[in-house]
Amino acid sequence: MNFSVTAKDSRSAARCGVLSTAHGDIPTPIFMPVGTRASVKSIEPDELKALDAKIILANTYHLYLKPGNDILFKAGGVHRFMNWDGPLLTDSGGYQVYSLTDLRKISEEGVMFKSHLDGSKLHFTPENVVDTQRIIGSDIMMPLDECPPWPAEREYVRKSGELTLRWAERARNHFLSTRPHYGYEQFQFGITQGGTFDDLRAHSSRMLVEMDFDGYAVGGMAVGEPAEQMYRMLDLSHTILPESKPRYLMGVGTPSNILNAIERGIDMFDCVIPTREGRNGRVYTRKGTINLRAGKYADDFRPIDEGFDNHVCRNYSRAYIRHLLNVGEILGLKLCTMQNLSFYLWLTSTAREHIAAGTFTDWKESFLMEFNSNGN
Ligand code: GUN
Repeated sequence: MNFSVTAKDSRSAARCGVLSTAHGDIPTPIFMPVGTRASVKSIEPDELKALDAKIILANTYHLYLKPGNDILFKAGGVHRFMNWDGPLLTDSGGYQVYSLTDLRKISEEGVMFKSHLDGSKLHFTPENVVDTQRIIGSDIMMPLDECPPWPAEREYVRKSGELTLRWAERARNHFLSTRPHYGYEQFQFGITQGGTFDDLRAHSSRMLVEMDFDGYAVGGMAVGEPAEQMYRMLDLSHTILPESKPRYLMGVGTPSNILNAIERGIDMFDCVIPTREGRNGRVYTRKGTINLRAGKYADDFRPIDEGFDNHVCRNYSRAYIRHLLNVGEILGLKLCTMQNLSFYLWLTSTAREHIAAGTFTDWKESFLMEFNSNGN
């Protein structure tokens, strides 16, 4: 995979880079909006571009269920199906092994899911998850893994981590022995597990590095562990994962989590927080979050974040968006989602600027100070 580090922070492990895919170059560190079912809820692809999204994420489990591989193949892959011509990353369904505990059974061969939609049986194997992602046509695909809960017994995490490693090897071999369907190159990342046990995380990371994936994801994080334990895993990962390949922290997180992870050498992030919270009326500003449903915004005609230069803040007031939410107009959800995605994308692009300028750690401290002050 073509990844080049373009700047390094002298006071931390933070770095800037460029990740090249067939659908475009991605500057890193980068936040990836979540479009699980081939839609970033309520936002069209041209609007994602206007928000400065460089890459989006979809999910193999959900797309395999609906619309299914036949339709995705007939469509010519998900890019054409949804009219998104930028880079696309797909998760494997490994997270659903964690989130759909009551609907799945794990064996050496793979995972048997009971569809959360109609109860039908679905067999996911490391091989057929690669096949589905070949049909989806994602630029970056993830292997099937098991994300253990936290806390979990060491022996459970050890055995689960070993199974994930055997699955990773099968997924890597299958990836290397199959071809893309649509004429452009696809890449495959490995996912480290091991919970918050230093030796298990280190072992998982080392074994995956030997399998020579195109990049590495840190999995099994943000499942209830204290942030400090996650940061310890990232410090450890930084010493093992190769400098020359991109690093992706899956499912994370808050602005503070993201900046602390960038400081520890992470390049890529995805999280449902900005989109999900937006649909609940919670919006991000540089002074913290506010819930626009609150009555006190009924006659507050200021923008969501005064002086924040984006489409939502230039054009709409808190009072108007609060009114939309209050009467159930779908535009309210959409504008809150746009504000939050714009904020998260601003956060990673501003981090990039400060890494390149050598001012990242100072900026991070002052940003978090203001963000946590709740000065709205
Ligand atoms: N999303 C968040 N965490 C994980 C993980 O551990 N594995 C996968 N596949 N997806 C994730």
